[in-house]
Amino acid sequence: MTTTMSVTEAVQARRSVRAFTDQPVSREMVEEILTLAGNAPSGSNIQPWKVCALSGAEKERFSQAVFAKAATSPAGDPPDVRMYPEGMGEPWRERRAVCGEIMYEALGIGREDKTARMIQGGKNLTFFDAPVGLVITMDRSLAELQILDMGIFVQTIMLLAQERGLATCPQAAWSMWSDTFREAFDVSDNEMVMMGISLGFPNNDEVAANIVQPRLPLQEYASLHGF
Ligand SMILES: Cc1cc2nc3c(=O)[nH]c(=O)nc-3n(C[C@H](O)[C@H](O)[C@H](O)COP(=O)(O)O)c2cc1C
Repeated sequence: MTTTMSVTEAVQARRSVRAFTDQPVSREMVEEILTLAGNAPSGSNIQPWKVCALSGAEKERFSQAVFAKAATSPAGDPPDVRMYPEGMGEPWRERRAVCGEIMYEALGIGREDKTARMIQGGKNLTFFDAPVGLVITMDRSLAELQILDMGIFVQTIMLLAQERGLATCPQAAWSMWSDTFREAFDVSDNEMVMMGISLGFPNNDEVAANIVQPRLPLQEYASLHGF
């Protein structure tokens, strides 16, 4: 594959996309991205990541299983990992609130419109209609530090996708459906569901493919010494 995008360009262009076209993503492309992402570094090279890639009828089957479960257990399955701390402090609480405000305002969903917010949240469960859904798991016996390895792996997938003209949305929402995932794909209870990733070609005509979230200035998160 000829590369036309630098790493810098891929990092700058990547954003969480929540609207995709029907254009399929081939098995070969998914395999290529996941093979290359396997080059991600991990502590002691233990490569703790596992990925379940879903497309077509299998992706649909999983979504249907989740919707069926949600009908009786709207709060989802007991999570394998904590998504956020109880009573998250500042400045993180505020940043999270701003993130939600930016997204819902862009989508024209009002602050009090709980139904529309729920519908938008529910779109997570079809991988935002992306042709491919990835479910990322990690063995329960591993330690907290291995979650860093997982994050590096996930970002590598997303940048490789970006380079290929694809778009992604990382989704912690899938961690709420851990048992349902394991039951649907006969996966061992040792595998913790960390997150999912929607993967497909972006539908750039949709607002949901064009939401830009702000970033902090460097001095708010970095200190440089001895330069
Ligand atoms: C670990 C992780 C979990 C996320 N979970 C979700 C999710 O469940 N649903 C969703 O719509 N976006 C999710 N996001 C996307 C974030 O909201 C997004 O990355 C953030 O707002 C920054 O925007 P950007 O990715 O467009 O730069 C998640 C991102 C990360 C890194």
